[in-house]
Amino acid sequence: MRAMAFATTSGPDTLSLVERPIPSPGPGQVLVKLGAASLNYRDLLIAKGGYRSRQKQQDLVPLSDGAGRVEAIGPDVTNFKAGDRVTACFFQDWPAGRASERAMESDTGRAVDGMLQEYRVFPESGLVATPAHLSDAEAAALTCAGLTAWSAIVRLGAVQPGDTVLTQGTGGVSLFALQFAKIAGARVIVTSSSDEKLARAKKLGADHGINYRDVEAWGQAAKDFVGGDGIDNVIELGGTETMKQSLIAVRPGGTLSLIGVLSGATTGNVLLPFIVSRDVRLQGVTVGPRDDMIRMNQAISAAHMTPVIDKVFPFEASADAYRHLASGTHFGKVCIAIGNA
Ligand SMILES: NC(=O)c1ccc[n+]([C@@H]2O[C@H](COP(=O)([O-])OP(=O)(O)OC[C@H]3O[C@@H](n4cnc5c(N)ncnc54)[C@H](OP(=O)(O)O)[C@@H]3O)[C@@H](O)[C@H]2O)c1
Repeated sequence: MRAMAFATTSGPDTLSLVERPIPSPGPGQVLVKLGAASLNYRDLLIAKGGYRSRQKQQDLVPLSDGAGRVEAIGPDVTNFKAGDRVTACFFQDWPAGRASERAMESDTGRAVDGMLQEYRVFPESGLVATPAHLSDAEAAALTCAGLTAWSAIVRLGAVQPGDTVLTQGTGGVSLFALQFAKIAGARVIVTSSSDEKLARAKKLGADHGINYRDVEAWGQAAKDFVGGDGIDNVIELGGTETMKQSLIAVRPGGTLSLIGVLSGATTGNVLLPFIVSRDVRLQGVTVGPRDDMIRMNQAISAAHMTPVIDKVFPFEASADAYRHLASGTHFGKVCIAIGNA
């Protein structure tokens, strides 16, 4: 079978086509013919060896997100049969409940090979059924960005009708957060560096847009737009550059859903009184467990929601997909077709 692997981890240019044997499913395992994969911001870091000793340094088949069709099952598999459409879970060993160290080490496309290959074996617990109305590329978008946004809005955020959510940028996680928050009945403010992208976010249901390049004090601007106490749940994706404005925007008793570090991973500029004297909840979000992915997919099916796909690249042009994501020009998810996406 064909796979794409990084010979070394010095950037997308070292990604090349390799031949590997098709694996056989053992007891409790499922062989999947992958139809599509999707990229996340973290895949840019992994391509450059950014996870150091915590990632495979040679011959890594990257990407954590994928979807396809069951080709064969091993003994004792009860939930899937050949021909079923399935989507990979980000954590292969987080079935339900609270996070654990073991679960946190069970992601793919980092220390173990991921989705950029024609076939892959999964434990039964590492897959969920794909919503019937989605293509494989759309389903692949759910693995990381979709479930992360679901956790921030629904599982951990418990967003209620009438709440206001602010989400940063127009990448994968942010647009899923917009879509889930609208399903939950919330008002949504989107920030972006681009007026054109803000107009597109409004077509997706955003109630208000703020260009964070033009409006430096966007946290106060968001609070002014909402009126009253401020934002109920801020989807924090920027890290260093955005934390201060996020804390200005959030209401007393509100939540900062800490997800991303797009502009840096330290927060030396955070004033603790904004948190400790205002009952603000800092909620770290790390994708989510399998049982929540099943619940998310039920909601997606019921709402007939479709993930926002920016572009699907052919398998042979996988390195171009990385360059496109790195350019920051995308709106939603960047995907790669492996078979018929
Ligand atoms: N904790 C978790 O489990 C988890 C899961 C998934 C992702 N993440 C993290 O979440 C972040 C977003 O991931 P993603 O895959 O959605 O990324 P992405 O699709 O690459 O999104 C990037 C977009 O974010 C916006 N952006 C960039 N810098 C910004 C800044 N300083 N302030 C506000 N917006 C900014 C830009 O949107 P505009 O072009 O509109 O300005 C950019 O296009 C990353 O840090 C990623 O590592 C964490």
